[in-house]
Amino acid sequence: MSTTVNALLRADLRDFGGYKSARSETLAGSIWLNANESAWANAADSSALLRRYPQPQPEVLCARLAQLYGVAPAQLLVGRGSDEGIDLLLRAFCMPGQGKVVIAPPVFGMYAVCAKLHGAQIINVSLHDSEEGLCADLQAMGDAALAQNASLLFLCTPGNPSGELLALQAVATLAQRLRGTCIVVVDEAYLEYADAPSAATLLSDFDNIAVLRTLSKAHALAGARVGCVLAGATLIDALRRCQAPYPMPQPVVEAALAAVGDSELALTRSRMAAVRETRLRLADGLRALPLVRRVYTSAGNFLLVRFTDADAAFTSLLAAGVVVRDMRAMPQLGDALRITVGSADECRQVLKALDTRVWEAAA
Ligand SMILES: Cc1ncc(COP(=O)(O)O)c(C=O)c1O
Repeated sequence: MSTTVNALLRADLRDFGGYKSARSETLAGSIWLNANESAWANAADSSALLRRYPQPQPEVLCARLAQLYGVAPAQLLVGRGSDEGIDLLLRAFCMPGQGKVVIAPPVFGMYAVCAKLHGAQIINVSLHDSEEGLCADLQAMGDAALAQNASLLFLCTPGNPSGELLALQAVATLAQRLRGTCIVVVDEAYLEYADAPSAATLLSDFDNIAVLRTLSKAHALAGARVGCVLAGATLIDALRRCQAPYPMPQPVVEAALAAVGDSELALTRSRMAAVRETRLRLADGLRALPLVRRVYTSAGNFLLVRFTDADAAFTSLLAAGVVVRDMRAMPQLGDALRITVGSADECRQVLKALDTRVWEAAA
């Protein structure tokens, strides 16, 4: 057990056991009358599996995901997307009204949303725009976390929307600096598109790192809502005690297991290579357009693009039926749109819409 992680937990939750569901008790028997379930399956339930509550942490799925991410099953918590992981980290480590969270905007919005919902104070350490890209300043983030006694610090790598890939050594240096004072959350929702090593490889050295992974992106399962937190066993156990009793519906468990079978994984890997190739071609195509001011290098399945007239670009894309993410309300991104790298044909449509219409609009 990690005593330093226990010390970082909310003091009022250190002895909190959470809800003890009927499924969390390890009892053996053949007649199950301990959860007030129906004695019959619903007529529409051909599997007859749905009358029972599911396992809180489905064993077979957890074992498979642990293997996929290179950790032990005790180092993994599965939940409803990595969104739930973010929420659980806030619940477990931030005392409502007192906790502080360091983020580096512009960045994925759920860190700030969850912080707000938990009454945590948000400490912004802005990304720095330079020749290299929109980059997180890990030194300044660490300084802010230490100076303000923050409980959590969120890194996003590849960054959404920056596309920046952080060096693992830099993450390790930050975790070392914050050991015993702050949990470093490394959100790797898009890591498969980068083909880079995971911060999960640092877990044996740092009990204050928590890694977020998801089946929503590379594994094409956003509709199923499956994500994981990877961390030391003490941290995982603390999150489990804060989680809803049965987070994983049985049909979702089955869909997730099927999606990470050997042949499905092989196909997913080949698609990642295709996305990387299309990403390059889309970036080159965009850079050639007169209305494009800058295309940031991206390790994710999206490109952050600055336009001389983002409004005209957005409108022209919409007129061609192409919906992209308008980033203009985000700090530093008043002229930017984020474009997902779709299929090669979808990307051609993007270039076509911008080339013929925006060009004319600008003339
Ligand atoms: C950086 C990042 N983290 C987490 C998520 C949430 O993913 P999930 O579908 O696993 O909840 C997203 C979704 O877009 C994201 O961009």
